[in-house]
Amino acid sequence: MKASFRSDQVEYAIRDVVVPATILEKQGAKITNFNIGDPNKYDFKTPPHMLEALQNIANDTEMGYAPSEGNLELREEILAFERSKNMLSATEDDILVTSGISEGIQMLIGATLNPKDNILIPGPAYPPYTSLTRYFGADPIIYNTLEKENWAFDIDDIRKKINAHTKAIVLINPNNPTGALLPKNHIKDLVDLCGEHDIFIISDEIYDKIVYDGKHYSPSSFSNDVPVVVANGFSKVYLVPGWRVGYMVFHDPQERISEVEDAVKKYSRLRICVNSPCQKACISALKGPQDHISKMVSKLRERRDYMYKRFNEIEGIECAKPQGAFYMFPKITHPAWTNDKQFVLDILNNCHVLFVHGSGFSKEQGHMHFRSVFLPPIEIIEEALSKVERYLDSK
Ligand SMILES: Cc1ncc(COP(=O)(O)O)c(C=O)c1O
Repeated sequence: MKASFRSDQVEYAIRDVVVPATILEKQGAKITNFNIGDPNKYDFKTPPHMLEALQNIANDTEMGYAPSEGNLELREEILAFERSKNMLSATEDDILVTSGISEGIQMLIGATLNPKDNILIPGPAYPPYTSLTRYFGADPIIYNTLEKENWAFDIDDIRKKINAHTKAIVLINPNNPTGALLPKNHIKDLVDLCGEHDIFIISDEIYDKIVYDGKHYSPSSFSNDVPVVVANGFSKVYLVPGWRVGYMVFHDPQERISEVEDAVKKYSRLRICVNSPCQKACISALKGPQDHISKMVSKLRERRDYMYKRFNEIEGIECAKPQGAFYMFPKITHPAWTNDKQFVLDILNNCHVLFVHGSGFSKEQGHMHFRSVFLPPIEIIEEALSKVERYLDSK
């Protein structure tokens, strides 16, 4: 039996490159992974008070379903946190806890788009936004970001690409895969543009506290009318990607997208609820000590600085400096390659170092780029990039 035509739309470059790496590993090779944005795979560990909270919950007898919209105490804590950060019109009822942001994206795109509708997505971007838009039969329209301006978005390109079928625009700030952190005035301009065209903003803020230069701003802080759906979660900042707890906040001061919000909540009842013990344990994340965040950021800053310097020393690679998240998106300028996927496979086979090809994040803007995490300790980065340098020099 053939799989549905919808399934052809599903691509996830980040995990696709793991297949050839696993084959090599089975043959005895030791692969150094720079492909997965999972800090727990390196020397970043979940804060002990959160683990303790989960252990205590495991001794409870209360192991029933949670409410579909999410544990109330968790939603109250999320609201308090989001209000301290952003100007929000939302109440607890406008918060939906999801199985990671990933589930939230899926629900929101499914509830927003009909066939022929479109959504604007940055190029390059975290792949599910594009894949899921296609999966639901709608059109992803990719807008340009400018490598020379540290991958800030090109508002003129966005303006040109908005049309009568555009429903929303995705902002990922800080961005995966480029590490771009958007300046305040750019975000304000975008909010104004969305107001002119009656479209709403999906604001992915999963790396909001992982910033090195400057400050993170949410479009919700600048909007009294334009709806902003803030998507955030615990995977990265609180170091629990496997718990699968994220959330969406509907900031909609003039109730322009209340039908979409209702549709998302209706859908959420179909999937019953998010893992209930992990939701409860996430209350301790927001209530408890936050000092692991500044420690994580200063460790990552050192690694970023080192990797940025090292990549730019290699002939055949150029790299902009990321200001947030834990990704770099270098450009391949070496004359031996014309295809970024082939470059990544060649580096894998010859250096046993695994990156992700840039075209997996956007065919056009990711062409001849690759994504690397800077999560591993400096010694590991040093060893891996020296191998890459030697290999490129030999070509
Ligand atoms: C921009 C962005 N959004 C969402 C996610 C997924 O988050 P979650 O673990 O909450 O599903 C990732 C994971 O890498 C990401 O980079």
